[in-house]
Amino acid sequence: MLDNPSTTATAEARRQIEICNACRYCEGYCAVFPAMTRQRAFADGDMTQLANLCHNCRGCYYACQYTEPHEFAVNLPAALAEARQDSWDRFAWPGVFAGMFQRRAGAMIAVLIAAIALLFGMALWLQPESGEGFYAYLSHGIMVALFTPAFLFPVLALAIGVRRYWNEVGGEPVHFADLRQAGIDAASLRNLSGGQAGACNFEAEDRFTNARKHAHQAVMWGFLLCFGSTTSATIMHYFLDWSAPYGPLTPPKLLGVPGGILMTIGAGYLAWVKTKADPSLGAKAFGGEVAFTLLLGAVGATGLALYAATGTGAVPALLAIHLGCVLAFFLTTPYSKMAHGAYRFAALVREAQIKRQSRGGTES
Ligand code: HEM
Ligand code: SF4
Ligand code: SF4
Repeated sequence: MLDNPSTTATAEARRQIEICNACRYCEGYCAVFPAMTRQRAFADGDMTQLANLCHNCRGCYYACQYTEPHEFAVNLPAALAEARQDSWDRFAWPGVFAGMFQRRAGAMIAVLIAAIALLFGMALWLQPESGEGFYAYLSHGIMVALFTPAFLFPVLALAIGVRRYWNEVGGEPVHFADLRQAGIDAASLRNLSGGQAGACNFEAEDRFTNARKHAHQAVMWGFLLCFGSTTSATIMHYFLDWSAPYGPLTPPKLLGVPGGILMTIGAGYLAWVKTKADPSLGAKAFGGEVAFTLLLGAVGATGLALYAATGTGAVPALLAIHLGCVLAFFLTTPYSKMAHGAYRFAALVREAQIKRQSRGGTES
């Protein structure tokens, strides 16, 4: 396992994990506790893995007898959140952008404004002479030239980041069974259920609810449906010679409309509930995290608004705003809270792998 020079955040998380490992009261709460009890000493890579396994449900904090004013000052959700964000900074490629959008709402808003302005400018000055639907304002060629690199670059940057993560946590060649188990854990967000009553305490100490988990499912599945919508449109365009605009009963619309609705509602709830939760139990990155969540909601909402405005004079402006939101989302992905999807998934794969190995399993 590779070691990185301990950061303050990693060192503090390690101090607290060692207390928890002696106490073990929260043993059944989430995957972090069984993973911790497998070891006595924690290398930096182990801390990175534990931090990315924690889903910040906050159940352990509210159950803990060693929180402040106790001298142990245990606050495991916050300590692991800081160590987690620190790890994303370390893995970010290129490093110059590390943490830029994770913590700062201002940086995210600046990119968003620049992206919308760029799209407005293109729609204004590069308007095609002919074209149907959206292509009457922005040609297909320009859209492809802009969005292909804007999509591929974050994919490459995240792949490099996940590779670095995998090296640091001592990951080994992945079996299909590891991916399958991680897929089930991510889809069900099992660890967000916390300890007591099978529900999460994110919002408040005495409120046990799975609403945050359901809102997350809405955002995540909504996002995947929207992704499916764009993919189906690409296939129809290039392989079936069937160009946009697409009718309401075609795959792009059948996937995109429910996807947009789920994303908008889910992101709205996640942003709202964040303003109610205690900020001292998370990372000190409130602004950047809320900006990211609202940007996701804006992608969904502006997409729906664009569809609703079909055939009206609002289309050019809404097109620039919607595509600007999508562009800002893609470009900031490896350096915003969005990176959590990749690193958290890698943590679930590694956890599934360790469990399989400890059972002596070789199934692939
Ligand atoms: C790949 C699997 C994924 C896992 C395991 C996962 C897990 C989590 C967890 C545990 C949280 C709450 C804790 C925290 O704030 O960090 C969270 C927050 C969030 N996730 Fe995911 N996520 C995944 C993918 C996605 C995807 C694909 C999207 C949408 C594109 C998404 C959007 C969000 C949003 C908007 C939040 C709220 C952020 C906040 O409150 O700061 N996640 N995710
Ligand atoms: S969070 Fe507190 S109660 Fe839970 S295991 Fe750690 S020290 Fe014990
Ligand atoms: S906050 Fe929730 S997910 Fe994180 S360690 Fe505590 S119980 Fe586990």
